[in-house]
Amino acid sequence: MNNIWSENVQGVMTLYLSRKLRFDDAFFGQYRRWFQINENAGLKILEIGCGPGALAESLHRWYPRAQITAIDRDSNFISFARAHIPGIDFREGDATALPFGDGTFDVTISNTVQEHIEPTAFWGEQLRVLKPGGACLCLSARRGLQCVAPCLEPTAAENAFWRSVSQEEDERERYGVGKYAMTEAELPASMEKNGFSDVTTGYAVIDLTPDAPKYSAQMAESMIEAERQGELEAIMSVHSESGEKAVSAVNAKYDERLRLYRAGVKQWDTLVSVTMILRGIKR
Ligand SMILES: C[S@@+](CC[C@H](N)C(=O)[O-])C[C@H]1O[C@@H](n2cnc3c(N)ncnc32)[C@H](O)[C@@H]1O
Repeated sequence: MNNIWSENVQGVMTLYLSRKLRFDDAFFGQYRRWFQINENAGLKILEIGCGPGALAESLHRWYPRAQITAIDRDSNFISFARAHIPGIDFREGDATALPFGDGTFDVTISNTVQEHIEPTAFWGEQLRVLKPGGACLCLSARRGLQCVAPCLEPTAAENAFWRSVSQEEDERERYGVGKYAMTEAELPASMEKNGFSDVTTGYAVIDLTPDAPKYSAQMAESMIEAERQGELEAIMSVHSESGEKAVSAVNAKYDERLRLYRAGVKQWDTLVSVTMILRGIKR
């Protein structure tokens, strides 16, 4: 349908790698507690605004009996997901006009999507495609904590690049990114106002600290690489010839971060993401 998000807002690898970490099996217990999805039933689950598919991929592992459909209007995300993630029905489509009949699904779920879509349509379409008694799960990113290692501070080359392309903010505004963001109090109230009952809220706190001994080397290096890809794709999405120096600077600083990790020189840099999980029922 379009490539607006993947080409202007967040790239395929930025979303895929960061979400793959957030929805790692190590954190399933936190999600499971609030999702309350029956693991033994062959439920029909629909993910809205699935991006490149990392949450759908985890849902498929966590609920192997469920039949999972995932939809996004960005063609690049859906092509990536179809090519890399088996077992899920990935569709291109619009969350405000879902191509499914009334009462089709037992569960709808979305991660960091609500804030970009007009609320009446966002909730209304999910209410329509859910079966009576079905659950709508809405995951919304909240303020977390980030502590950057000294070797990962922005370099002069990156700062010069970002100063030269300062129209980035306007682009975000142009695409309506975060236009319908709500506070922790407004979100459940919006869900209730738009027809959901028995609304509950909970939080998943995901601690991504590469140096923490609880994480394997593979997981720790994935954290570092996910951050690297996020910074690289942000530069490349600007479509500017002048990005070359910034790209080299980003690669050099992440190579150094990996070197320090492998040498056991702890930096204790951390990214703690806090996700609010709302659950409402269609009565
Ligand atoms: C912040 S991204 C989150 C993607 C994914 N849920 C994840 O966590 O990786 C927001 C997603 O919503 C999608 N999106 C925005 N508006 C949409 C709409 N009206 N219909 C379908 N998808 C939409 C974008 O294409 C993008 O993939």
